[in-house]
Amino acid sequence: MPRVIRWLTAAVATLCVFYFGVAFYYQRAKARPLLNAESTTAFAAAWPAGFLWGTATAAHQVEGGNVRNDWWRFEHQVGKIAHGDISGAAAGHWDRLSEDIGLMRELGANAYRFSIEWSRLEPVEGQWDEGAWAHYVDELAQLRAAGQEPVVTLLHFTLPLWMADRGGATAPDFPERFGRFASEAARRLGPQVKWWCTVNEPQVQMYNGYVTGYWPPAVKDNALAVRAFEGLLRAHGAAATTLRKGDPDAYIGLASNMIWFEPSNRWNLLEWVVANSVADGFNWSFYESIKNGRMHFRLPGFPTLDIEEPALKGSVDWIGINYYRRNLVRVNPGAPGMVDISNGPGTLSDAKVEIYPEGLLGLIREGWKRYRLPIVITENGVADSTGAHRPMFLGRHSYAIKQAIDEGVDVRGAFHWALMDNFEWAEGYGWRFGLYRLDLRTLVRTAAAGAKEFRRLAPSPSAGVRAKAVTPAR
Ligand code: FCB
Repeated sequence: MPRVIRWLTAAVATLCVFYFGVAFYYQRAKARPLLNAESTTAFAAAWPAGFLWGTATAAHQVEGGNVRNDWWRFEHQVGKIAHGDISGAAAGHWDRLSEDIGLMRELGANAYRFSIEWSRLEPVEGQWDEGAWAHYVDELAQLRAAGQEPVVTLLHFTLPLWMADRGGATAPDFPERFGRFASEAARRLGPQVKWWCTVNEPQVQMYNGYVTGYWPPAVKDNALAVRAFEGLLRAHGAAATTLRKGDPDAYIGLASNMIWFEPSNRWNLLEWVVANSVADGFNWSFYESIKNGRMHFRLPGFPTLDIEEPALKGSVDWIGINYYRRNLVRVNPGAPGMVDISNGPGTLSDAKVEIYPEGLLGLIREGWKRYRLPIVITENGVADSTGAHRPMFLGRHSYAIKQAIDEGVDVRGAFHWALMDNFEWAEGYGWRFGLYRLDLRTLVRTAAAGAKEFRRLAPSPSAGVRAKAVTPAR
C-alpha cells in the first residue's frame, strides 16, 4: 500500500477513534436520567421533615385589576394576547384570599409561593401605597394561620409603568429602584417571611421581551437583551443585599426556568456541543454569574457580557428551578441559526411541550452538582384543559423529585403551578394550569383533575410542619 494511503487510513482511523471516544464520553457523562420505576402511580410520598409542598401563583396572573403595570398596557394593544384576552379581573384572588387559602388547605398544601405586585405597592415612583402593603401583611398573617409557609417573589415579570417607561430592566437605575423596593418589603413583610425569591425567570423575561418581542417591551434587539440580562442580575444582587440588611433571617433564592436540552442524535458530537452550549446559556448563566461573582452571558448572535461583580457571590441560599419541558437540539444548515429546537417524542401538553419528568431529575442532579445548595422546585405544572394528564404528571414529577432526594440531593420543596387557572401571559386564558378550574365568568373555583393526586402526595400532617413556620437551615 502506498505510504500516503497508509497515512490517510491511519489519520481517518484516529479521527474515528477520537470522535466516537468523545461521543461515548458524552453518552456516559450525560446519560439520560431514568426514573427507577416505570409506573409511579402507586408511589406514596415520604417526604423529608419540613418539606414544602405547595402551590404557586403570580400577582398579575391571579389578582385582577393590576392596572398600573406594563403588562396591563400591553394587553390593551390589539393583537398582543391570544383571543384578544386581557388580564382584567383575572382569578379575582385579591378579593378572595380567604377562600383561596381554604383551597390550599383542602389540597393538603403547607406552603404557597406568590408574588407581591410592585406596581400596586409603588404606583408612583417613590410613593408607597399603604393599603396595598396592608393587603399583603394581612395575606401573610392568613397564610401563617392556615399553616402555609409563604415564599414571596418580588418580581414576576410585571413592572410599574413608571419603571417600564424609563427603560425597564435596561434602565441604568433599575437595580437601585428594585433594591429600594426589596428593602421596603423586608422592612414591612420581613417579620412574616423567611423564603424570598428575588426574580422569576429572568432569562424568559429577557428572551420574550427583547429577543422575540413577544412580551413587553416588545423589542427585538439582542444587544438590549443582554443589557436586560445584566439589569436583572444587578437587580437580583441589589435586592439580595437589601433583604439581608432589612431581614437578617432572609433565606434568599430566585426562580429560574430550566429546559432539559438533549441532542437529537446522541452520536452527533456537533449536536452535543450545541445542546450543551444552549443549556449553559439559557439554564445556567444566571446562576453561574452569581456563583462566580462575574456577570457572564455568551450565546452565538449575542454580544458577550463579561463583567466582574463580586457582590453577586453568595447572594442566593438556595436554587429555584421552574421546570416544564424537554427540548431536542438538531443541527440543520437550513434552519435559522443552523439549529432546530423541537419537542421530544413523548406526550404533549396543551401548551405543546413534551411531558418529560426525567428532565426534572436531570436538572436537579445538575444543579446540585454545580452549586451544592438546597434546591426548591419553584414551579412545575401542566396545561391540561381536559384533565387527561395532570394526575400522571404529578405522580411522575413527584417521583423524580423523590428519587433525587433518595440519591442524597437536598431538595427542600416543590410548588405546583398553579393553584387555580389564571391569565397565562400572551396565551391569555387559553391554557389551564390550575389544580382548581376557574369559571371565567363567575370566577367560581372547582377542583380540577389532579387535585386529588396532589393531596394524596402531600406530606403527612404528622410530619409536623403545618402549624409552624419552617426554619430553614442556612
Ligand atoms: C412560567 C411562568 C409562570 C407561568 C408558567 C406556566 O414560565 O413563570 O408565570 O406562566 O410558566
